[in-house]
Amino acid sequence: MLDDVLARIDADLEASLDRLFALLRIPSISTDPAFAGACDEAASWCAAALAEIGFAAAVRPTAGRAMVVGHRTDPSAGPSVLFYGHYDVQPVDPIELWDTDPFAPRIVTRDDGSKIIVARGAADDKGQLLTFIEACRAFVAVTGRLPVPVTVLLEGEEESGGESLPPFLAANREELSADVALVCDTGMWNRTTPAITASLRGVVGEEIVISAASKDLHSGLYGGAARNPNHVLARILADLHDETGRVTLPGFYEGVPDTPEEQRAQWAELSRNDDLLPGVGLSIPAGEAGRSVLEQTWGRPTAEVNGMIGGYTGAGFKTVIPAKASAKVSFRLVGTQDPDKVRETFRAFVRARIPADCSVAFEEHGASGGFRVDLANPHLARGRAALTAEWNTEAVVIGSGGSIPVVGQFKSILGLDTLMIGFGLPDDQIHSPNEKYELTSFHKGIRSWARVLAELAE
Ligand code: BES
Ligand code: MN
Ligand code: MN
Repeated sequence: MLDDVLARIDADLEASLDRLFALLRIPSISTDPAFAGACDEAASWCAAALAEIGFAAAVRPTAGRAMVVGHRTDPSAGPSVLFYGHYDVQPVDPIELWDTDPFAPRIVTRDDGSKIIVARGAADDKGQLLTFIEACRAFVAVTGRLPVPVTVLLEGEEESGGESLPPFLAANREELSADVALVCDTGMWNRTTPAITASLRGVVGEEIVISAASKDLHSGLYGGAARNPNHVLARILADLHDETGRVTLPGFYEGVPDTPEEQRAQWAELSRNDDLLPGVGLSIPAGEAGRSVLEQTWGRPTAEVNGMIGGYTGAGFKTVIPAKASAKVSFRLVGTQDPDKVRETFRAFVRARIPADCSVAFEEHGASGGFRVDLANPHLARGRAALTAEWNTEAVVIGSGGSIPVVGQFKSILGLDTLMIGFGLPDDQIHSPNEKYELTSFHKGIRSWARVLAELAE
């Protein structure tokens, strides 16, 4: 029976791709209010796709972007699952670095003959969430049912640190209850090795605006006498790290577990052949001294400056002392580091460095803690077996430096463990120009979910 479902997936690949392309054409950028209508459209599209395969599905409005919830509970003895994905995407800028329109998806055949799907959201997360929905579609088409009871929850604020999800989970606890959560928003170890992700970093986002003079000034007439907020900002941001790459915020490392020696050695070994830095034209790990790339990204917290704005940045040159300078800063957290405490410590750190005549304002952009999956979770072994069967390569358990706040909320609000399975690749360029998802990720991703569902039902 599983073989029939897999055959159906193969036969339907073209139609699955047509559906993916339809979703990719909707510019559902959640952080920009100008695209709120497109987010609604994407939510409606997803609800309709679920309804088409027999889910009782609806768009559920929130104060922010809408949720989509669908249920299909065929009589079955297996564990019930709650599948999560996000239909929102990141902004496309810098648009000039895209080879083609980010919302005009296309297939590109590379020199080695492999095919990729290029579009904003192809890998993060529209292609990935559809791998699950298409697997359900094939099951329903072939067997008339799903092998386990399934609830699908799709959100539209994941990329903008939205606030709507925790209250939505709390208000719909009963309806969203399940035995295990499934999340398809992570990656494989490499093109041939499937993976289950067992740890994520948390993230705290902060925007700071430093103001000095009441207006922009001529830097000759005022330079030397007037305070320059660009200089103030640069000093503060530079102060965030010491010369060994450690973050200098007082108490920042409280709750950061020491990486066990065995783990450090294994990560160091794996880092030797890792393509993360070479793949983007770098060679020297720039984080905390003495730690491997994998430890730096999977096991350690960071402070990163994501954006700096201040003064004249247009074409040519202008001699000016700006009135304001601002930065967007994020912290990645691990272990039991407390997001609220990190935010407060950062604000105090900044305030202590604001000179007379200057002021600072803060705006917060989301907070979540680090997360570790319980490796004894029995569903994990089933997931690994299913992945290993599809890819013909032993599935590995990996960490990730990225953040998926919902996974922690599933645990704290719904009491649910999550199985994180995804088919993204390190070079998919998510959040960047020319984002892509490999055709094999999409095709074998669908097949993998069919196997996972069948395995869970065993
Ligand atoms: N899917 C990513 C996170 C991810 C990518 C995890 C690859 C593991 C492997 C997610 O959409 C994302 O980008 N998260 C943001 C969260 C932030 C906006 C609150 C992140 O990590 O920056
Ligand atoms: Mn994502
Ligand atoms: Mn993302």
